[in-house]
Amino acid sequence: MMTARSTSTVTSTVTVNAAFFQEIKEVHQELYALLDQVRQYCRLPSPSAGNGRELIGVVAELRDQLALHFALEEAYGYFEDPVFVAPRLSELAGSLRDEHRVLYLELSELVDLVERLNYRGRLAGSWARVRGRFTQFDDQLQAHEARENELILQAYEDDLGVGD
Ligand SMILES: [Fe+2]
Repeated sequence: MMTARSTSTVTSTVTVNAAFFQEIKEVHQELYALLDQVRQYCRLPSPSAGNGRELIGVVAELRDQLALHFALEEAYGYFEDPVFVAPRLSELAGSLRDEHRVLYLELSELVDLVERLNYRGRLAGSWARVRGRFTQFDDQLQAHEARENELILQAYEDDLGVGD
């Protein structure tokens, strides 16, 4: 016999802890140093024979640090809030949190690509492609970080009641 079941669902909204979020960004200097190292590699006109293994080490470390950075943000910066949160802030927070997976997968693919090319001795011949992929990833990451910084400011303003 069928029983009546409620179709209502409890929804929660994504919001941020602005103070924790800001601190995670300020203390993660290792991530920014690794990003700079990869940018310096990308300024080389062509990698030398010995650069391949070094570059793999740096981009793999960058991937691991990025995973840690996102994990910290998701554990302490973002949180699900069952109470009402301004829809504008919640939508932005939700979409930015979802970008973590896309950015991490892109960098993981880039690490695999560099490893494959280096193993086949084709890293120098495909250097423009590798640089292009990294520059695109870097631009996406910088845009993500800039939007998260805006989100933190917006969350502070909403807390202070100075937002629109
Ligand atoms: Fe983030």
